[in-house]
Amino acid sequence: MENQKNFLTTAPYKGTRDFYPDEMRLRNWMFSVMRETVLSFGYEEYDGPILESFDLYKAKSGEEIVERQLYDFVDKGERRVAIRPEMTPTLARMVAGNLRNLPRPVRWFSIPNLWRYEQPGKGRLREHWQLNVDLFGVDSFRAELEILLIADSILKRFGAPEGSYQIRVSHRKLLDSFLKNTLKLNADQVHGVSKLLDKKSKISAEAFETEIKPFLDDATKQIPWIEKFLSSDLQSVSEIPEIDPESVSFIRDLFGELQALGVTKQLIFDPSIVRGFDYYTGCIFEVFDTNPENRRSLYGGGRYDNLIGLFSKEQLSGIGFGLGDVTFKNFLEGHGLIPNLNREKTVFLPIMEESLFLETFKLSKELRENGILAETMLDSAKIGKQIQTAEKKGYRFVLFLGESEISTDTVQIKDLISGEQKSLPRNGLSEILKKDFQL
Ligand code: HAM
Repeated sequence: MENQKNFLTTAPYKGTRDFYPDEMRLRNWMFSVMRETVLSFGYEEYDGPILESFDLYKAKSGEEIVERQLYDFVDKGERRVAIRPEMTPTLARMVAGNLRNLPRPVRWFSIPNLWRYEQPGKGRLREHWQLNVDLFGVDSFRAELEILLIADSILKRFGAPEGSYQIRVSHRKLLDSFLKNTLKLNADQVHGVSKLLDKKSKISAEAFETEIKPFLDDATKQIPWIEKFLSSDLQSVSEIPEIDPESVSFIRDLFGELQALGVTKQLIFDPSIVRGFDYYTGCIFEVFDTNPENRRSLYGGGRYDNLIGLFSKEQLSGIGFGLGDVTFKNFLEGHGLIPNLNREKTVFLPIMEESLFLETFKLSKELRENGILAETMLDSAKIGKQIQTAEKKGYRFVLFLGESEISTDTVQIKDLISGEQKSLPRNGLSEILKKDFQL
């Protein structure tokens, strides 16, 4: 019998992705559009380590993350560490560590990879990338105004049409006042009901009712109130007894100004937004695709007043959001917003004859020195085969340099999309390629 060798799998670890060049090109494009947008608002990029102390998350990230989703272990020096499941604690640590020197408002962004031990499924993986945009040092709703305008601008910069997404906004104090004051629940009940509301959309109505009952004193009276609260608009929510009036007027003022800035139909007040993290204290929001195939949120964020307080006596309020690459890519695909990312901006140079290798290599060097991107073959295979390679690699333009072109000081250019081919002078070639071929 033939000797069976146990080969290793080429599949990546469960819930993670390999980014082959095609996917990497897409990812780079997506992040470059996001970067351009946040840079245009004056935000600066930061980064931190992928490994942090376990305690950083224990304090505020919330039990679902810490107990079920954290990749944590004890290192060789007996320190309990965790791979970052989110960026906000690292950000708070970094801002707190340099609090006195940072000019305010602090406007920072980052695109970290994050790890959560999740059951992988549509829109959920174990490793994802997340654009984080955060602003510190502004207590008024102008911070919310800017952050939500950025959230909207990113989608618009990708060409998202009206009606393709919704920005759903609420306020932590609305829910808190409803549970504590209207329903008169104690702290444990508030905690239990909030967690359940956060996962309400993922379970059936029957399961929700069964699971909520143990947290209520009088389910037959309280469940209809909960339904009323969850389905209310800004007017009707303000009529619920003992609801926090300040958060209602906060959202009303915020919406007024956002609408004046052109964020209109996509803006929705939604009291059922809860957000799973314990650190949010004010306005909270999530952005959703309206395509029912892509049900999980595109962005999540809100205001957190007390995170800096973990590290110092000082207070500094922060607000921001995380935008995940998995659901966002689904959004772009679903709405046909991904442009042709083939390598139309790079020219491909085959080797027409073995003896012309150095001449061809010189030409590509000359082109690069003039700002043209160029890839050269390293062998002179049959020309048809070399063109096939160019097609497979996603090129559009091929430059031929044969004996007759050398003797006439020209090159031939072929457009693989239209099939057209023509002769160009060698003199001033780079300028012609830039001007006439947008290279
Ligand atoms: P989050 O809601 O946990 O918030 O995540 C934000 C976004 O990241 C989600 O809307 C989703 O697009 C994406 N996301 C989260 N987990 C996964 C996963 N397992 N697989 C794929 N995508 C995922 C936060 O992380 C907050 N720290 C955001 C924030 C920044 N708040 C203030 N500043």
